[in-house]
Amino acid sequence: SRSVGIIGTGKYVPEKILTNADLEKMVDTNDEWIVSRTGIRERHIASSDQATSDLAYEAAIRALESAGLTAEDLELIIIATITPDTMFPSTACILQDKLGAKKAAAFDLSAACSGFVYGMATANGFIQTGMYKNALVIGADTLSRITDYTDRNTCVLFGDGAGAVILGEVPEGRGFLSFDLGAEGAGGELLKLEGGGSRLPASNETVQGGKHYIYMNGREVFKFAVRVMGTATEEVLRKAGKTKEEIDLFVPHQANIRIIQSARQRLSLPEEKCVVNVDKYANTSAASIPLALVEAAEDGRIKEGDTVLLVGFGGGLTWGASVIVW
Ligand code: ACO
Repeated sequence: SRSVGIIGTGKYVPEKILTNADLEKMVDTNDEWIVSRTGIRERHIASSDQATSDLAYEAAIRALESAGLTAEDLELIIIATITPDTMFPSTACILQDKLGAKKAAAFDLSAACSGFVYGMATANGFIQTGMYKNALVIGADTLSRITDYTDRNTCVLFGDGAGAVILGEVPEGRGFLSFDLGAEGAGGELLKLEGGGSRLPASNETVQGGKHYIYMNGREVFKFAVRVMGTATEEVLRKAGKTKEEIDLFVPHQANIRIIQSARQRLSLPEEKCVVNVDKYANTSAASIPLALVEAAEDGRIKEGDTVLLVGFGGGLTWGASVIVW
């Protein structure tokens, strides 16, 4: 069977920075609370003329350049997002047009913060079967557009960004060794955006009720996160035939420093083997894992042949993990 791996990477965050000090002026919160409970110090926020496809575009052109490909070479585009530009057309179709990727099939994938790992697993399958030679997989979200900036329980947690990878065939022994994807739909009520779908179409009532904003039961999501970060990493390592001692770099979803530390300690990994950038970007949903992965690669923290473990969790509820030999 073919070996499939990452042959190009790119990332983008909007210029505007919202600090904890800025939030202190907007809601009843303080820097000490935010840093001690979440590890977040600042987050990047899209400008009023930027939508998710614009963030995705910037990450995509960098990934294409790093892979040495042009947009015309692309055969598949998958965008993992919960903040598409529009309900339809898909953000992937909007991006396909912006890039001029005329040959590429394009669709969006909805698995919240796990979406990027779900997207890579999907693209990996297409390339494994020989249906496509390459794929652009992007995690991109503009959570600021669905965040209630009068709700201190959620507004301190989120930021905007995009991370992109190009997948293609790689030499034997490298690339994806395993994936572990999962869902616990029964927990869907814990993390959701209710308004604007076919159950509760957008109306004055949905807007007045704040149903166009993220609702989150933080404490319950926290418990789920700690549990599945543990079980998913064990399962994906088992499938890859690797032990935790063999992990060179751990790239967890960047939602909360306490969740990251608990996962890192369960794997008995030293801090230098764990990527943390939640302090700079906050939780960027589907963009979180690729932003962390691409930043680590750009910082020279990943060498050829390194074993990299990715793991995330999010709305659905969902989780996704992967082991990659770089
Ligand atoms: N500033 C000050 N006080 C606050 C703030 C704030 N920004 N937010 C909440 N508080 C208060 C609460 O009102 C509560 O007060 P009370 O005890 O008087 O009711 C108190 O702080 C403690 O609240 P807890 O919920 O116990 O705080 P906790 O330690 O659980 O931290 C947090 C809250 C950070 C939200 C945590 O639960 C968490 O990170 N959960 C997971 C969130 C997550 O990962 N979500 C993924 C979403 S991604 C996606 O799919 C979009």
